[in-house]
Amino acid sequence: MTSTPPGYFISFEGIDGAGKSTHIESFCKLMQERYPNREVLVTREPGGTQLGEQLRALLLEAPMNLETEALLMFAARREHIAQVIEPALQAGKIVISDRFTDASFAYQGGGRGLSLDKLNDLEKWVQGRTDGSLLQPNLTILFDLPGEVAQARRSKVRTPDKFEKMDLNFFEKVRQEYLRRAKEDPKRFHLIDATKTPEAIWDGLRSIKIGIE
Ligand code: TYD
Repeated sequence: MTSTPPGYFISFEGIDGAGKSTHIESFCKLMQERYPNREVLVTREPGGTQLGEQLRALLLEAPMNLETEALLMFAARREHIAQVIEPALQAGKIVISDRFTDASFAYQGGGRGLSLDKLNDLEKWVQGRTDGSLLQPNLTILFDLPGEVAQARRSKVRTPDKFEKMDLNFFEKVRQEYLRRAKEDPKRFHLIDATKTPEAIWDGLRSIKIGIE
């Protein structure tokens, strides 16, 4: 496997209630219009494979030890990479994933307090390629907003899952870890101010240029 497959990998990230799900579908359509010769594949984490979706159901509902939670997130990710993401990138597709590894750093690391060393080890293990390189999204679109605003939005629209039941302090820590990751890798991250109106956010998304033909 080469270290630079011809495809392009985009992840969408942000705390629950930031609004990424509202925009992901339109963004996929936009990519398909802009790159008619490329196939656009939309997927999600945890999930994206049959096994991954089974793990998702457990992860979003069942109480479990923190390390078990992190290991299952990465186990689902390993399957997702092997079955879906790498083959699609090798075939030149644009892959758009609703969350990827930054979510593990933000939620299990920042939010719940799992050591970043352990997460770094898991990232290397699960995303390592045979040539020694690491699979990472080419672009990560991070919907950023204060925990309080996200909480108010969430309470209006849905029944909370295990993570969405967490308190404000948890989501502030999740947000800070996302922002730390973004600062560490500014070339990969594109920050969206998610306090803006959906129209303004959409304008921001449309202005993103990605470096493919
Ligand atoms: P989410 O993607 O927000 O889906 P929905 O819009 O259907 O709620 O939900 C997935 C949840 O899983 C979210 O609360 C974040 C959490 N999560 C982690 O804690 N770690 C991870 O590595 C991933 C991928 C998700």
